[in-house]
Amino acid sequence: MADPRVAVFPGSFDPLTSGHEDIVRRALAIADRVVVAVAHAPTQSKKGMFGVEERVEMIRETFAGEPRVEAAEFQGLLVDYLPRVGATVVVRGVRTVADWEYELQMAMMNRRLAPAVETVFLAPAPEHAFVSGTLVRQVAALGGDVSPFVPAPVLRRIRAAMASPGANRP
Ligand code: PNS
Repeated sequence: MADPRVAVFPGSFDPLTSGHEDIVRRALAIADRVVVAVAHAPTQSKKGMFGVEERVEMIRETFAGEPRVEAAEFQGLLVDYLPRVGATVVVRGVRTVADWEYELQMAMMNRRLAPAVETVFLAPAPEHAFVSGTLVRQVAALGGDVSPFVPAPVLRRIRAAMASPGANRP
């Protein structure tokens, strides 16, 4: 039997949104296993809401019923992490044309660094096209209802974070 095809879906996932969830479920159609990999802060420019471990836990909870999805964290270069989980495919979601420039740059850089790695771009369902972790953080911090934009385990954590004094807000 051929080796299982493992795809890594990397990102900051702060937090995982319904758009990310949609991309993961689509990725299962082209990969046997999908590793949703949270990048550590030094590679991220954006200010965070949740710590890396909490982001991983929320991903784990969201896909608790899907044995082909696992949640992980990684430090350093994505292309160095891929062989550790036996992956040769990177999955990224592209929502809008604005996403495309950044995504193509990253895909080309990753290809120069690791020529055997292919990046696959998946389009989310249109209702997720405007949803991003950044906007979810903003709306939540300002008291808006983010329930349509995040999976239930993420919503629970956001509500808890907002209810606790001194919460890490954007
Ligand atoms: O969700 P994001 O913030 O758009 O994800 C960006 C991410 C984590 C995929 C990117 O920053 C990344 O791959 N970081 C790991 C470090 C690395 O390999 N950088 C070079 C990529 S071209």
